[in-house]
Amino acid sequence: MGSLTSWSTNALKRKPKDKWNVSNVLDPFVLVILMEDAKDSLEPLWQALISTIFRATDDVNSLREAVWRHKVIIVKGQHNLDPKNQWDLIRRLDPETKDEGKSLNDHRNGLLFRARCFPGAGNVRLFGKGFQGEDHYGMKNRTITRWLNHDWHVSPPPKEAFESGITRFQRWHFDAPLYGDEPTWFTCLWIAKQPSGPDLTVEWADGSGLTMETPPGLTAFFSSVQLYDMLSQDEKELVDHSWVEYAPHPFKWIHGCKSRNTGLGIAGGGHLTEEELGEYDPAAVKKYPMVWVNPRTGDKAFQVHGICVRRLYLRSSTNEQPRVVEDITEIHDFILGIQHRILKPEYILLAPAEEGDMVIWDNYSLFHTAIDYPEKYGPRSMHKADTGGSIGPKGPVPIGI
Ligand SMILES: [Fe+2]
Repeated sequence: MGSLTSWSTNALKRKPKDKWNVSNVLDPFVLVILMEDAKDSLEPLWQALISTIFRATDDVNSLREAVWRHKVIIVKGQHNLDPKNQWDLIRRLDPETKDEGKSLNDHRNGLLFRARCFPGAGNVRLFGKGFQGEDHYGMKNRTITRWLNHDWHVSPPPKEAFESGITRFQRWHFDAPLYGDEPTWFTCLWIAKQPSGPDLTVEWADGSGLTMETPPGLTAFFSSVQLYDMLSQDEKELVDHSWVEYAPHPFKWIHGCKSRNTGLGIAGGGHLTEEELGEYDPAAVKKYPMVWVNPRTGDKAFQVHGICVRRLYLRSSTNEQPRVVEDITEIHDFILGIQHRILKPEYILLAPAEEGDMVIWDNYSLFHTAIDYPEKYGPRSMHKADTGGSIGPKGPVPIGI
């Protein structure tokens, strides 16, 4: 079989109302679909990919370059993907990673539950909803009940409205423990089973009246690069030179909080006190620049996981002493004051992945979220792979750590 260079790539078409990608000349948010050049081949593309990967480093490099540049890649038709192959791929995309797949399951992706890893496949975990089958890649009679829901929202849609197709974004985030390990460069999601049924309506439910339609079972994205480009010159200078400090054990810290109905940001308080949080390792606490520079393209992304931030350090030049902000309301107002500019239907990409597709995205440039759907649409099964980044995020200027 051929190498990546022999496969065709296609940019996802935008609808007339869509604005994602338009504001940046570097095309940061084009979705590319890699397709098998020999469509009548009986060999799944994945097997071709994995076999060439182990012979041809160039192919891995091509794929890595494609994700850094285009941000979201859908590799079509990867049916019956072995979780071990998915783990091999995610590690080869960050070949210097020290992650051997032994990290705590509940730290890796920022969600407050323990997802199940596939034996022998490192950090490849099963996500989804409903009954996963009698034997799903070695997992027997498993039913997922706790991943997709609106428990986190301050006012979830009423049961009847949800059953009729009204839903919310679950939780906007990037994948990172924000304590200890560095964020994964890329996230790789393989779609084993998708629900089906009429489109759903995602409500912002924040007084804006905004809604958007989506087929069930898709992942939504917005680009933090496109967001950065929306800032004024003064704002860019401020965020270029500023940084954030995340809370120790940040997801434990917010365990009692509630999300705004948009799935972006926290409504009110409910954070654990320092005493309740307990002991922590100061060396594991993360301070990251607000702006992350793409190592290949130089794109700048405003990449701040606002719900986990404990302190802001604000300054507009390297000569300035930073102003330290510790008030949670002020922290949230600052971050959401920026991120709300892109939380609009026209800037949100619903990646059109189908069963058998593998979605790989640049976790240093994007926010993403799941979207819940009624059980009657059927079960959803996904295998998600990530790995501790070998090098963490770098800002435009050194920050004061
Ligand atoms: Fe995620």
